[in-house]
Amino acid sequence: MHETRRAVLERVADGPVTGPTLADALGVSRAAVWKHVEALRADGFRIDSTDDGYVLEAAPEFGGAAVELGLDAPFDLEYHDSVASTNDRARELAAAGRDDVVVLADEQTGGRGRRGRAWASPSGGIWLSLVLRPDWPPARVPLLTLAAAVAVTDAARARGVDAAIKWPNDVLVPDSSTARGGRKLTGILTEMEGEAGRVSWVVLGVGVNANLDPDELGEDATSLRAERGDVDRAAFTRDVLERFHGLRAAPDDILDAWRDRSATLGQRVRVRTAQGPVEGDAVDVTDVGALVVDTDGGEEVVHAGDCEHLRPA
Ligand code: BTN
Repeated sequence: MHETRRAVLERVADGPVTGPTLADALGVSRAAVWKHVEALRADGFRIDSTDDGYVLEAAPEFGGAAVELGLDAPFDLEYHDSVASTNDRARELAAAGRDDVVVLADEQTGGRGRRGRAWASPSGGIWLSLVLRPDWPPARVPLLTLAAAVAVTDAARARGVDAAIKWPNDVLVPDSSTARGGRKLTGILTEMEGEAGRVSWVVLGVGVNANLDPDELGEDATSLRAERGDVDRAAFTRDVLERFHGLRAAPDDILDAWRDRSATLGQRVRVRTAQGPVEGDAVDVTDVGALVVDTDGGEEVVHAGDCEHLRPA
C-alpha cells in the first residue's frame, strides 16, 4: 500500500482525526488526505466522517489492505480477488527484481501443488506466495519452507486447531484413521532460482484451507472452518507473516521449532523418492531439513519425496 495511505489508515483506525490534523501530521495537502480516504473507502474500509473527524468503523474481511492494517513485518502486499496462481504472479515479480512482496488471493483458478499436481483453491482460502531474496546458500533454502510450516502450525494452534507438520512441509491435523496419518490443512510449494552457489530468489507458496467446506476440498483434506469454525483471514494471514518473519531472522532456531511440531518424527514412514521407496522409522531431520530414516539396511537421508505415515505394524 502507498506509504501515506497506510499512515492515513493507521491514524483513522486510532481516530477520530480531522483532515487538517492528518494533512499536517503527514506533510500532505488536505486534498491528498481526502483522496486517500476515498481510495480506502473504495478498498472496502468504512471510514465515517464525524464532527470530530474521520474514524474507521469497519475494515474489509480480506484483501491486501485488510492484511496490511497493523502488520508487523516488512512485506508489501499485492492482492487479487482471483488469479491463476499466486506462485506464477510471484515469479513474475521475482524476475522483475522485487523482494519481500506477498501475493495474496481469495481464489486461484490454476493453483499448483508439488510434483505438478493441481491445488484446489476456491474462494474462502488463504492462497499466498512470498517473494524472498535471502542471502543464504541454496542448500539452506529448505529451512524457509520449514519455517513457513512452523508459522502456519502455530497460527492454527493459536486458534485451537490441533495442527502438526508432516515432513517436509504439509500442515495437517493428525488422524490415524486416515491413510496418510492426518487431514491436510496446508500445503507449501517452494520454487527458487539461483546460480553458482547463490540464491537469486525464492518463491514460497502457502495454501491454507481456511473458510472452506469439506466438499470443496480434496481427499483427506480439512480446513480451519471444518476444525474450529471460520477464522478472520486477514488476522490469520498477518499472524503467519509475522511468525515467518520472526523465524527467518533466527534461522538457527527453525529446525528445533520444526522438530517440536513434527507429526513425522517417531513414526513409521514410507517416502516415495525418485530413487524408489524408503521405509523405516523417521528419526530426525538434518541441518538442511532432509529426513533421516532408520531402515532395515541402516540410516538413510532423504532430501525430497512424498512421505506417508504408516500405521504401526
Ligand atoms: C502441495 O502440493 O502440498 C503444495 C500446495 C501449494 C499451494 C499454494 S496455494 C498458494 C501458492 N500458489 C500456488 O499455485 N500454489 C501455492
